[in-house]
Parts: sequence; C-alpha cells; structure tokens
Amino acid sequence: MSTNLTIDIAANGVATLTMNRAERHNAFDDHLIEEMTEALLTLDKHADVRVVVLAAAGKSFSAGADLGWMKRMASYSEAENLADAKKLAHLMHVLDKMSKPTVGAVQGPAYGGGVGLVACCDMVFAAPEAMFALTEVKLGLIPAVISPYVVRKIGASHARRYFISAERFDAKAALAFGLVHEIVPRDEVLVAATSWAAQLLNNGPQSMAAAKKLAADVADRPICDELNHDCAQRIATQRVSAEGQEGLTAFLEKRAPNWVKQ
Ligand code: COA
Repeated sequence: MSTNLTIDIAANGVATLTMNRAERHNAFDDHLIEEMTEALLTLDKHADVRVVVLAAAGKSFSAGADLGWMKRMASYSEAENLADAKKLAHLMHVLDKMSKPTVGAVQGPAYGGGVGLVACCDMVFAAPEAMFALTEVKLGLIPAVISPYVVRKIGASHARRYFISAERFDAKAALAFGLVHEIVPRDEVLVAATSWAAQLLNNGPQSMAAAKKLAADVADRPICDELNHDCAQRIATQRVSAEGQEGLTAFLEKRAPNWVKQ
C-alpha cells in the first residue's frame, strides 16, 4: 500500500482517494503522479465504485508539482522532460475523463497543478481557507499542462489575469469563477463531499456517465444541425437502453429503479 495515497471504498460505492503527503503539502512528484493515475484508472473500472471523492490530508489540498523534483529534471534531456511532463498531462486527462462522477473535497490551499486537479473534478466543495494560485510564473515556469482544464473552467479572461499575475484568489472568488461549487466550513468539507456523492447513487450510473460526456462534448460547440442530430441520437440511444427502460418503468410503477440499493 502506498504511503502517498489512501483509497477507501465504502459499502455504498463511494470511493475516497486521499492524497497523503501532508509534510510536502501534497505536492506531486513522479511517484505520486503515477500512483494517482493508476488509482483513478482502477477506480473508474472497479465494479463496486459508483462515485469518486478526491480529498487531501493536512493543511493544504495540494502545492502542485514537486519543485524539488522539477529542479532535478533540469539535468535530464529535453526528450526526458517532455516524457515526464506528459505523465502529469496524462493524470489530468484521466481525472477529467473519468466516466464516474468526481467530487473534490478541497480543505485547504491549492497551487499550480493543485488548481488543475480541482478544475478536473465535476463538483467541488471548498473550505474558506482554500486559497488558490497559479504561481508558476513566480518560479519562472508556466501552468502549461493544466491550462486546458483551468481555462475551460474559469474562462479565458480570468485565466489571462491569474496565469500572468500569480495572485492568490480566495474560495469566494473561485466560487464566482465556477472553479468551486460550494463553500463549507473546513471540518465539514469531506462530509459534505461524501454526502453529496451518496446522493448521486439515486441516479442511473450509465446515464450519469453519458450525461457527463454530453456536457463535455456539447460545451463550446456551435449549435447547428450536426450538433442537434448528435444530441437527438444520444437521447434516442439512452431511452431504449436497459437503464433508460428500467428508469422509466420504475417511475411509472412507482418503485425505486434497480440501481438504488434499498
Ligand atoms: N514542492 C516541493 N516541496 C514543497 C512544495 C512543492 N510544491 N510546497 C511546499 N513544499 C515543502 C517546502 O519546501 C517545505 O519543505 P522543508 O520542510 O523541507 O523546508 C515543506 O513543504 C513545508 O512548506 P513550508 O513552505 O515551510 O510551509 P508553509 O505552510 O509556510 O507554506 C506553501 C506552504 C504551500 C504556501 C508554500 O510551501 C509554497 O508556496 N509552496 C509552493 C507552492 C507552489 O508554488 N506550487 C506550484 C508549483 S508549479
């Protein structure tokens, strides 16, 4: 079992993945990146898991990339640096593309890549103490691999400001930008995230996966005949699916659908 990451799978199907490198403010080096990527891929395939909560131990949610590890990478070739950066890009991609719902429990500050993780979650609860900053330019770096996810979440206007200023912004600002969705007291963040995750167990697992993909695929696309056809095709497929039929039948028969554990 890794010491950097803990995985808890509750009997109801809510899994909690906790970054556990508190003494380094959950900064991620190559080991943690690999462990998190593998854990997310495993949880996405795990038959007993329906929702994934991403949490962190200690004071900070994540201090982003491990700066000691980044510094050491200077002695590696450009090809090695590129391959290494792609591992972080892959982690962001895997989290972003999880077919299961992901809920961020952000109990403290998030910097750099930590903001990237937050931007890749579907729903985010944050504590008032959860300050955010894209500090890369202070370090002579750029928030490159996280940029597609952060720009998509907070918009190009805020991204331009915060990418170049490296200013800290608080949870209230993050709420206004859509980076986080609810602010709750620090000691209630994890409970709020897992309770919200448990509510999702009432929803069809495959419909949630299809709905999540729908929201991602439709965003920023021009509304045209092709898009309308694509959307019509998706609902046509879903309503005749086993899950669609079960949901409709259960409603008409005034009973719970078969994915709800009694
Ligand atoms: N990578 C590697 N180590 C980190 C780290 C990071 N991103 N962030 C913090 N640490 C380490 C510190 O170097 C320190 O190590 P030490 O005990 O060996 O000196 C330890 O974690 C504790 O950090 P410290 O700075 O003493 O704690 P703090 O509470 O005063 O401040 C932070 C915490 C997170 C605000 C501060 O460490 C910080 O600004 N870190 C950099 C965050 C950042 O810019 N990340 C973006 C990376 S692209």
